[in-house]
Amino acid sequence: MIELQHVSKAFNGLTVIDDLSLHIARGEFTVILGSSGSGKSTLLKMMNRLLEHDSGRILFASEEIRSFRPEAIRRRMGYAIQSVGLFPHWSVEKNIATVPTLLKWPSDHIHTRVTELMTLLQLDAELYRKRYPHQLSGGQQQRVGVARALAGKPEVLLMDEPFGALDPVTRAALQLEISRIHKALGTTIVLVTHDIDEALSLATRIVLLEHGRIVQSGTPLQMISSPANDFVTDFFGRNDIGIKLLGLQSVATRLRPGVRAAGEPVLASLSLREALSVFLVRRVERLAVVDGDGHALGAIDIADLLDLRP
Ligand SMILES: Nc1ncnc2c1ncn2[C@@H]1O[C@H](COP(=O)(O)OP(=O)(O)O)[C@@H](O)[C@H]1O
Ligand SMILES: [Mg+2]
Repeated sequence: MIELQHVSKAFNGLTVIDDLSLHIARGEFTVILGSSGSGKSTLLKMMNRLLEHDSGRILFASEEIRSFRPEAIRRRMGYAIQSVGLFPHWSVEKNIATVPTLLKWPSDHIHTRVTELMTLLQLDAELYRKRYPHQLSGGQQQRVGVARALAGKPEVLLMDEPFGALDPVTRAALQLEISRIHKALGTTIVLVTHDIDEALSLATRIVLLEHGRIVQSGTPLQMISSPANDFVTDFFGRNDIGIKLLGLQSVATRLRPGVRAAGEPVLASLSLREALSVFLVRRVERLAVVDGDGHALGAIDIADLLDLRP
């Protein structure tokens, strides 16, 4: 979908992206992770030509990104950023409709699309569509920002720290939303963040960046269980890697089918990290496991958590 070949970019003679090659496959949820100043935002902005690269090639749908007209890129790639960037004197509805309006969609079509997106992002359309950004909470503004990015049905959604500056509860809710949208629409997503847990919970693929180079890329499980070097190990946190690993796997992966256990059952979809917490709080060594409909599946033992092979 997006292919970078030996791409470099410098600002005032200082290299920020250094001979970087990366392929982003259709339908993937790629998270570009790195500390502040590692070049994440620059990398993202080159993908939609907000910034021009100095050398190398960037291909979108197999064609040079430079051959696209800016409107075509705006239509095919949605872009959402931390500071939201909503137009303050435009209603929520008008903000969300920015790209459809540019594309001259019929107004009834736009109206329907706005309602659909507000529903998707769990904003009450009747209540909020005529409001202005300053009349919304930070979390609601972020939702409008994401809705606006999705409005033109883009093939790619680029997001730069879209959930930054939110309280942990709102942040988790929005992460869940975006994960749901990815699964439901199959949109190719590239998200930039410096938040390790956010990367681990959202990504199908993590690209770890440092000084404008890729240190390692892989699934969350690969990054944690087979770090390429000490930098990667340290980045993900040497001391709680075991806990993070538990967070990436579900109770279902350790199920003892048919085994019975006393007490309130846990869901098979629960992460092993959450299961550990339940073991500790209840002071038990075995938990009953059920599926989403409450049907008994079996049990899990606390010793099963030690089997950390990916
Ligand atoms: N427009 C610019 N002009 C000059 N330097 C810039 C500009 N944008 C970014 N930089 C520099 O490039 C480096 C990478 O920035 P950025 O891509 O924003 O990193 P990140 O998003 O990972 O924090 C930083 O050192 C930053 O100061
Ligand atoms: Mg940035």
